[in-house]
Amino acid sequence: MKKNKKNINPIWGSNFNKQSNPLLEKINSSIDFDKRLALQDLKVSEVHSFMLKRKKIISPSEYKLIIKGLKKIKNLIINKKFKFNKKYEDIHMNIEVELKRLIGDAAEKLHTARSRNDQVATDFKLWIIEASKKLCNEINNLQKTIVKKANLNIKTIFPGFTHLQSAQIVSFAHHLMAYYEMFKRDKERLSNSVTRMNECPLGSAALAGTTFEIDRNLTSKMLGFNKPSSNSMDSVSDRDYALEFLSNIAICGTHLSRFGEDITLWASDQFKFITLSDDFSTGSSIMPQKKNPDSAELIRGKMGRLSGNFISLLTTIKGLPLTYSKDLQEDKEPVFDSFDNLLLSIEVTNGIVNGFKINKNEMLNACKKGNLMATDLADWIVINYNIPFRESYKITAKIINIANKKNYQINDLSENDLNVMGNDSGRKIKKFLKIENSINYKKSIGSTSPKEIRKAIQVAKKELY
Ligand code: ARG
Repeated sequence: MKKNKKNINPIWGSNFNKQSNPLLEKINSSIDFDKRLALQDLKVSEVHSFMLKRKKIISPSEYKLIIKGLKKIKNLIINKKFKFNKKYEDIHMNIEVELKRLIGDAAEKLHTARSRNDQVATDFKLWIIEASKKLCNEINNLQKTIVKKANLNIKTIFPGFTHLQSAQIVSFAHHLMAYYEMFKRDKERLSNSVTRMNECPLGSAALAGTTFEIDRNLTSKMLGFNKPSSNSMDSVSDRDYALEFLSNIAICGTHLSRFGEDITLWASDQFKFITLSDDFSTGSSIMPQKKNPDSAELIRGKMGRLSGNFISLLTTIKGLPLTYSKDLQEDKEPVFDSFDNLLLSIEVTNGIVNGFKINKNEMLNACKKGNLMATDLADWIVINYNIPFRESYKITAKIINIANKKNYQINDLSENDLNVMGNDSGRKIKKFLKIENSINYKKSIGSTSPKEIRKAIQVAKKELY
């Protein structure tokens, strides 16, 4: 029987008699998204072919041809002239088919002692390592902006909330620097994961390793990994590095989302703590007076897909038997999507923070309502009258009660009203209850006292510059 081999996959179709159903092509092909791995794939092929030459598995002239072809393909890809074809499924086969077209038979030797299974794991790790570094860089830029703003606002009085109720007076710088710390841990998480994933899967082949005497130490080193991975089955089947990346992104996204929420609240007419810059705000198509914080809301909104992407891959992997299954091809889109959206969110947050105007008066006025110095006062009574905190709590509550009855704030009460401890205490308490002084009273490490904030900013500057 005469076979028409024309439309059958040239790489794996040797024993196939019928060409792929277009629906198979549709579900099986990953080229539309894994083309993002092109440069990593080329690098891996370059290094792999060098090693094959070193180990005399291919000849120097074959190696030369392969490298020449790979270079040509790289140029085509960089100049966006490479024609990706769904028929060749993925990035690995697209490149291999083009290499064959460019250099002929020598291309057929490139896949010696490797499989797409170890190839894709290596490409993907390289991509994630690079992406993690890019994210760290961008977080760094955001932190610089935060520190710059904090430095200008060490003495800017701000109402600290618990339960979104006024709680205690803090410095606005302290609030900003809280995010600095979160982003610092986000960077640490990303780089810890990079350290863990720094083992090279290349040479694990399909799942069992290879018959050829390859040099895995050499390829691992040339690709910038710490060492070759230890178990070929683990290497081709696990994607925990992608999961860590997605979880790191989801955690950082959560921090950004909370920042987005804070910014949205601060910019509202009810708070008016900040005024967003026009270039990060939007208007309404019907309400002419509106200036909406869409950018901050979207940063909050992005968190939905970031956590979804993490759960999606976790679920895909959970029931897979060892080793490789094609389900694993579903690992890429969530990773690319999370990376793109986190990177954008960090950049946008940076723009928002850089551009917002701080309304110190509104912040100060908000501190004048809600008796935010009640805890300061209770502490002061303990220190000055040597009584247990529970008792001073009750005394302070009594003062608040007097103020509430008069519809006053405690610092509006007269010395006489405040004289609950006798002995000139009214005058001393009145003097103590100055809103501007509250942050100076704090003594503990990591508190909102200007001294501690200055220290934190100094440490931050050392970390960033
Ligand atoms: N495109 C595939 C993926 O991303 C490459 C590995 C294919 N391996 C295979 N045995 N079919 O997972």
